[in-house]
Amino acid sequence: MSPYAERRARLLAQMEPGSVAVIATAPEVLRNGDSDYPYRHDSSFYYLTGFTEPEAVLLLLAPRGTAPAQSILFCREKNIEHEIWEGYRYGPEAARAEFGLDFAYPIGQLDEQMTRQLSNATALYCSLARNTTLDAQVMRWLESVRRMSRSGITAPSSVRDLLPIIDEMRLLKDEGEQAIMLRAGVIAGGAHERAMRATKPGMFEYEIEAELLYEFRRHGALFPAYTPIVASGANACVLHYNTNNRRTEDGDLVLIDAGCEFEGYASDITRTFPVNGRFSGPQRELYELVLAAQEAAFQAIVPGRQYSGIHEAAVRVLVQGMLDTGLLKGSVDEAIASKSYAQFYMHGTGHWLGMDVHDVGLYRDVSQHEKPSRLIQPGMALTVEPGIYVRPAAGVPEQYWNIGIRIEDDVIVTQDGYRLLTASAPKSIADIEFIMKGGA
Ligand code: GLY
Ligand code: MN
Ligand code: MN
Repeated sequence: MSPYAERRARLLAQMEPGSVAVIATAPEVLRNGDSDYPYRHDSSFYYLTGFTEPEAVLLLLAPRGTAPAQSILFCREKNIEHEIWEGYRYGPEAARAEFGLDFAYPIGQLDEQMTRQLSNATALYCSLARNTTLDAQVMRWLESVRRMSRSGITAPSSVRDLLPIIDEMRLLKDEGEQAIMLRAGVIAGGAHERAMRATKPGMFEYEIEAELLYEFRRHGALFPAYTPIVASGANACVLHYNTNNRRTEDGDLVLIDAGCEFEGYASDITRTFPVNGRFSGPQRELYELVLAAQEAAFQAIVPGRQYSGIHEAAVRVLVQGMLDTGLLKGSVDEAIASKSYAQFYMHGTGHWLGMDVHDVGLYRDVSQHEKPSRLIQPGMALTVEPGIYVRPAAGVPEQYWNIGIRIEDDVIVTQDGYRLLTASAPKSIADIEFIMKGGA
């Protein structure tokens, strides 16, 4: 059974008998004139089908009595005129065979088929309040079923949100997904190494970015997983900086946050290094601090422990370092209680990672009244990304001004800890300085 068929079966098993689920892929988006943005499928649709063409909808029918479960795809028809201009499209018959579906129909038949399949269905599962076009379509389908009520046909009595069920499935990565994510991590790690080797004082940030993009693409990654950040000097203290157009100067650090999307899965890596290949004293001090915070965070990745413990471990180390360097005053506990450390560390220590760079899945156990942080489980994929960002301000030691450092890696939780996906990105000061000297 393909992983997609296996996921459909697992989803169908969670649906009410006699119910119907519908999920559409992402729309094409016009850029201007007759050019679209590069097409990217919807992650959850892809998770259940493996199908990457636009204009496609998956319909799942849960079994009831002797009626078996069914997976039905709606997709674009074969069309030689369009294929001459835009390339191959499967068409329903080939898509059905290739993607292991029970039936496939032209997308133009969706409304008619939905009305038929929703007749006497017990419930409808779909994405709710995320896409107004789809919401309106669902209402139309329900309305057209209700119009047949005089002939004894009933419409589903409940409409439920499908995505929370899929989100929880997506949170735990299967073996195939883990192998793809490792590849995405290895490619992006190599891109960071390439960027380090290429960087010289005086280069523009976009020239460094080009090295990353070249490495992603030449290994078959379709796009960056998000807009790369190449932030030199004071730009590193702007968390979502991505104009990437400053000329670097001798003595700067450059913070690169860049990952690729490989076969639909994201990597997300940050490295920070000196453009001249050698860390200054203050840069070295803060870099070692962030590295130690990341190590403490890694040690907190233990199945059965709370997810929030990862952030807490990183914060504790960072705060101690902020006190040691004179960035903060007082005690560790006071700084944590008052959150005074947020002047220099204002983001979380990671997030779920998968098909989306900030992947789906809850961070809290919502089945409990207090909604505590959820427990770490094998198969979860996450980033670990502590940082420190020192903007010039009164009372802040001047030698640290404008230093911004983040170190971000990707891991998958295993039975007894975690597996690092991004080890190919050089990280220790010794490794970075060695590589930037041209070391092999
Ligand atoms: N690159 C986005 C993030 O690190 O969360
Ligand atoms: Mn991240
Ligand atoms: Mn990142």
